[in-house]
Formats: sequence, structure tokens, C-alpha cells
Amino acid sequence: MFTLIKKEGSARRGKMDTVHGTIQTPAFMNVGTSAAIKGGISSFDLVDLKCQVELCNTYHLHVRPGDDVIQAMGGLHKFMGWKKPILTDSGGFQVFSLAKLRKIKEEGVFFQSHVDGKRIFMGPEQSMQIQSHLASTIAMAFDECIENPAPYDYTLKSIQRTTRWLARCKAEMNRLNSLEDTINPHQLLFGINQGSTYKDLRIQHMQEIVQMELDGYAIGGLAVGETAEEMYEIIEAVEPYAPADKIRYLMGVGTPVNIIEGVYRGIDLFDCVMPSRNARHGTLFTWSGIININNAKYLTDSSPLDSQCDCPVCQNHSRAYLRHLFRANEMLAMRLGVMHNLYFYNTLMEKIRDALDNNTFEEFRRHWVPILSKRI
Ligand code: GUN
Ligand code: ZN
Repeated sequence: MFTLIKKEGSARRGKMDTVHGTIQTPAFMNVGTSAAIKGGISSFDLVDLKCQVELCNTYHLHVRPGDDVIQAMGGLHKFMGWKKPILTDSGGFQVFSLAKLRKIKEEGVFFQSHVDGKRIFMGPEQSMQIQSHLASTIAMAFDECIENPAPYDYTLKSIQRTTRWLARCKAEMNRLNSLEDTINPHQLLFGINQGSTYKDLRIQHMQEIVQMELDGYAIGGLAVGETAEEMYEIIEAVEPYAPADKIRYLMGVGTPVNIIEGVYRGIDLFDCVMPSRNARHGTLFTWSGIININNAKYLTDSSPLDSQCDCPVCQNHSRAYLRHLFRANEMLAMRLGVMHNLYFYNTLMEKIRDALDNNTFEEFRRHWVPILSKRI
């Protein structure tokens, strides 16, 4: 259940109570696609990194090790050793971005596995069944995510199909939650708004999915080719049509600045591979701006990576040491880089929540947006 605690403009401070504990919002979900955070981060590390909720992917886990395996292990929480909330993405996005030779029909999508080329079919019912086997806290609806720009006619047909798929998702999730041997009979279901960059289609689709009374509403199909300004405009257009008493999730977004701008426009929940993916290349977020630790200027720099950061990396290591690890391609480089970046993102959310609690979010945004977008 989501509780709206307070508002500053459109920005919302809230909390979401689940069977796996409470998520304080705005929150960032740490991405562990295949039941692992890339860069060698364990579930027990995530506790120290202030992670509240982890995101895993239906498609990847279905392909390997198989959702039947995870079901036999008692669900994702037991399998990964993570007790707090887990959100699983439906496979909708990954089928469209990763799989080969896909064919979309009314029933669902036929495609080839990116691992072994095996032919797989996934529709709304299959996605719900897999997510029920994984027993995540929150399941996402099976949707079609289309790249921007997209033709208007195709987008209209696509959102109509995504709405029909959503009705099937809801019916199947209700059925699965009432089965006796379901691991998590309280599994929640979020709907996903689509409609490319067409405001009228976005609004029409949001109005349709709100009728289905879901546990939360996501905005999908963004950060897939459009500009940041276009993305902000879409959020502003659909936000008034999302129910005030339900959580709103902006999928796959984004940079620290994108997150601040999303919160400013009424978003409660985010996820992105950026902190872990960037860290693996030495791009690190700091409270003074974005740095590349590979830079020669850090060769003998004895200061911590970020003097304003309390993470285990910044408490123990110098920039010179981190630069050496990256140059030498040590496994530890990635681990430490990802640890710092995830801590940075989770701390960013904590600071946003504190600012909302104190009614200083406007000031927070004005102060941090220019600093956090800067490469130094
Ligand atoms: N992740 C990022 N964007 C999307 C989307 O549009 N749909 C789904 N299912 N996952 C996403
Ligand atoms: Zn740090």
C-alpha cells in the first residue's frame, strides 16, 4: 500500500508498505538483472550501500537458470539472500531490446533466446507465471516498449494491444495469487503507460490503465531515443492522470539530474543501469560533478574519490589507488566503482527525501542540478 506523506509542488514524499518491508519514496531501485548486481556486488553489500529495493528481470531469469529452478529454491528472495523488496520487470522491454527474430502477435511475442537461440514464446500469462515463480514483491505488466520516434498509427495499435495485454495480466495475476502453492500470494502488479512521444496517446492510455485499479503505475517507453526535454514534457502531460494515491515509477531513468527532474514532476520510483554500467568504465558520480578516474591527473592524488561521500570506498581508498586498479584492469576496480556509484544514487534519494521532509526540494533542485550535470 502506498501512502502519500507530503507534497512540494508536484514532488511527492511517500512510503510503500509491502510484505517484504517498507520502501521510503522517492526511491531508486538497484538493478540486478540476472539476480546479481554487475561488478561483483552481493546482496549483503547492498545493505551497506543503502539499497531499499532491487530490480531483476523476468526474461533473463526465465532463460537462465529458469524460473522453475528459482521456484524450487523458494523464490528470488531466498535464492539471492535478499530480504527487502524486489521488483521484476516483465520481459516486455528485454524481449524487444535483446531477443532476436521476434514476431509480435495478439497472444504475445515469439522470439529467440539471446543465450542459446532457443525459440521462446512469452505473452501476458507466461510473464505473470514466471514472475509468480520468481515470487518478487512487485510484478510488472507485460507491455510493448517501442523506440522513439515511432509512427502515430503504429503507436495507437500498440497501446491498444498493451491495454488488452494488461487486462490479461491482471486476470492471470489474480488467479496465481489465489493458488495454494504460490510462494508470494501478495504479489503486486504495476501497469505500464506507453504512447511514444504523443501526448494524446499517452493520456488516452493512462486513462485506460487507471480503470484497471492496479497497485502502481509506471511510465515506460522513455529514455529510448527522445531528448530529455521531450521526456519531461511527456511526464508533465500524463502525471495529472495518474492516481494520487498510487506509486508512480519512471522506468529505466536515468542520470542524477533526470531523477531530480522526475521527482520534480511527481515521480516516486526509478531504476537505471547507469550507476553500475558507468562505474565499470571508470565514470564515477561525485557531489562535485562526474569524473573519469582513468584520467592521468589522478596518478598521485591521495584524496578520497569524493570527500563528501561516506561510502566504504571513499572511507578507505585514494583516487590514485582507484585509478591504478582501473588501469590495471583489476576486478576490484569494478567492484569499488559500482559500490561508490550505487551508494551515491541511494544517498541522492535520501537527500531528496530529506529535502521534501523539510520543504526545501525546490532549493535542492536549484543547487544540485548544475553541479551534478558537470563533468570535472
Ligand atoms: N524498462 C525501461 N523501459 C521500459 C518499458 O517501457 N517497459 C518495460 N517493461 N520495461 C522497461
Ligand atoms: Zn564514495
